[in-house]
This record gives sequence, C-alpha cells and structure tokens, in this order.
Amino acid sequence: MGSSVRPRHWPGRGAVPPLTFATNRSVLHGTDAVQRIFAAPKSTTVHEPNDLPSLPYETQVGTSVEQALEWLIAGETVALPTETVYGLAGNALDAQSVARIFAAKNRPSFDPLLVHVDCVASARKYAELPDWVAAALEKNGPGPLTFVVPKKDCIPDLVTSGLPTVGIRIPNHPLFLDVLRQLPFPLAAPSANPFGYISPTTAQHVLDQLYGKIPYILDGGACAIGVESTIVDATLPIPTVVRLGGTTVEQVEALLGRTVDVRTHSSSRPQAPGLLESHYAPRIPLILVDEHEVVEVPCGWAVVGYRNIAHWIQVDPNRSWLLTPQNNDCEAAANLFAFLRAADSSGAQGIVASRAPHRGLGPAINDRLQRAAHFPG
Ligand code: TXA
Ligand code: MG
Repeated sequence: MGSSVRPRHWPGRGAVPPLTFATNRSVLHGTDAVQRIFAAPKSTTVHEPNDLPSLPYETQVGTSVEQALEWLIAGETVALPTETVYGLAGNALDAQSVARIFAAKNRPSFDPLLVHVDCVASARKYAELPDWVAAALEKNGPGPLTFVVPKKDCIPDLVTSGLPTVGIRIPNHPLFLDVLRQLPFPLAAPSANPFGYISPTTAQHVLDQLYGKIPYILDGGACAIGVESTIVDATLPIPTVVRLGGTTVEQVEALLGRTVDVRTHSSSRPQAPGLLESHYAPRIPLILVDEHEVVEVPCGWAVVGYRNIAHWIQVDPNRSWLLTPQNNDCEAAANLFAFLRAADSSGAQGIVASRAPHRGLGPAINDRLQRAAHFPG
C-alpha cells in the first residue's frame, strides 16, 4: 500500500453506495450528476490529483475476477490491467456507470472513452465495422490497436462525448479478457489516471492516484507494453493514425496491407480531444533534450535518460533513471510511465528527459514525452 492510503468509512463490500458525486461545492445525485458532468464547461485545465472529488470508497486491490465482476455488474467502476496501461472500466451501455468514470478521473466530458470488447463479433454489436477493419481485428487478435468507427445507438452519447464514432479495442490481457467474456456488456475504459496525469502501469500507481475514488483494482502485475494503444481513425478516406502507441505505424501498415496517414498533432480543440498538447504530465516541469548532447542538469532536478547519460553533468544518482540500458525500445516503453512517476515524486524541482531514437516504439515514447514537456503555466 502506498503512502497515500488513508482509512475511510465504508459500508462494506457488496453494499454499493448511492450514485453521488461529491464536488468541491455540492453533492450531485443520479441523473443530475450525469447531466451536470456531461454538460460540464469545456476546459483543458489539468487538475492536480488531490483536487479530485472525494468518494467514500476504501479501495481494495486484489486478483479476484469475481469481485471485479460484482462491482461492474452493480454499475461501479473497476481498474483493470491491460497490456498497455491500467484502465478504469465501467459498463459502456450504462450512462451512470460511465459518469462514474468521468467523475473518478476528473475527466472533462468532451473527451470520449474507448470501448473494450473481447472479439470482433462482439464489436459488431456496438459499432459499424467496415469489412477491412473487421478483417484487420481478426488477423491482429487482441492487442494494442484501436479503430475509430461509426457507433451504434446502444452506445450512450456520454461515452463518445456526442461524437457519432467510437474507438473499439480488444485488449490483450488474460484478466481483462476473462472479465469481458463473463459480462453481458462491453467496457468503457480510459487509462486509470487522474485526467492529464501520467498513465498507470501497475496496480500501485492506480492506488496512489485513485484511492477512495473507486471500489476495486484488479491486480494483473506490471503492464507489458507500457504505452497506450495506437488509434487508427477508420472513418477517413485514408486510414489515419491519430495516436501513436503500442503498435508501430509500420505494423499497422503491414496489417492493413496499405500505407496510412499519420496525424497526431494536437490543438486545444482537437477532434480526438484527449490528444491535448499537455497530457501525461508530471506535476513538476519536464524539459526534453537529445541524449547525445552534453546536458548540465539544474541543481535539484531529476533525470530520466534513455540509454546512456554518462556524459551529462551534475546528475544526482539518487534521482536518475535510465529507460533502457540495453537500448531496447520495448523495455523503454514499459518503463516510461513508472520512471516519470518516480522522478515526479522524488522531491525534485523538475525533470530532464531524453528523446528516444526514432524506431520501433520510439515515436510513441517521444509523443508522450513531448506532451509531458508541455507544462501548463
Ligand atoms: O491502451 C489504451 O488505449 C488504454 C487502455 C486502458 O485500453 N486506454 C486509453 O484510453 O488510453 P484514454 O481514454 O486514456 O485515451 C483514449 C484516447 C483519448 O485521447 C480520446 O480522446 C480518444 O482516444 N478517443 C476516444 N474516442 C474517440 C473517437 N471516437 N474519435 C477520436 N478519438 C477518440
Ligand atoms: Mg489516457
């Protein structure tokens, strides 16, 4: 258990609290809460994790799929492991369950959620899959790849923030798949971090950030890949990668048998609203540099290097991490968020991080670092 764990009053497992969302000023109930959350003013403010509204849970961490199922069937949210990052899951067909996800994450309602299913047949129930997308998903199998496709009416507008499209993903983690196969509904699941903060790759990361906000975290160990899924917009004339992630662009092209566009630039009002300039951000400033440069680290700053920073000056050995001494992009991706978190909570005043080489998962890693470096004044 992390240092942030505090005992709370809790009516006991199985007793699901009424749907209330405590905010700084008031407590919202039932549909009021859903409407207020859905109608919340559009804002790109990145909230401090401690600003999150309190909910009266004594968060449990465990390996019980049954317990996760109980909470999900009761309309609650549960953090589940995927091969990319931990997700905060809820019933994608139930607007109230989805509203709980937005509330726990302090996520603005204009940022749509991905919908997770266990197979292509299931995906077809909730979205209009072009044949080439269905074929690609069948061929790829579960994995770090999401397709944006037209949604069907059964997916509430709250899930997609009013967009007519939905991101569909088949996650490749045995526990997540086990949960999905036993549920009669798909799972909406964003990364299980407070909005704008670094994504979680262990159950402890989730606990550190969402303790008290959710009832249960299903512990599936550290995430193997470590960066989120690659998102391909299949509604455009040319399939377009709108988020770099755990499947490389080359792998997407090989899977689809054609070239794709890559459009991952961001703006303050993007079509893929979560792709904001400032995202994955530590609480302290982050400066991004090229590793081969001779960098003089400011006094009191932490360092997250890529492979070799022996030539850097004034590195504090107690506050420095190397993503991959072996120069392996998969290892670097798997370590990225954990090391950023460690640096962020090391008491340092800032972080100097180095870019990854432009191969394999390097571009996805650099995308995260670039957004982490966009420190909001
Ligand atoms: O690996 C992953 O994809 C993880 C795990 C939990 O599955 N999920 C994840 O979800 O990263 P999230 O919500 O943190 O990021 C999803 C991104 C957001 O930037 C969101 O704006 C974008 O996908 N998105 C969701 N639905 C979309 C849609 N219909 N069109 C365009 N972008 C969409
Ligand atoms: Mg996220």
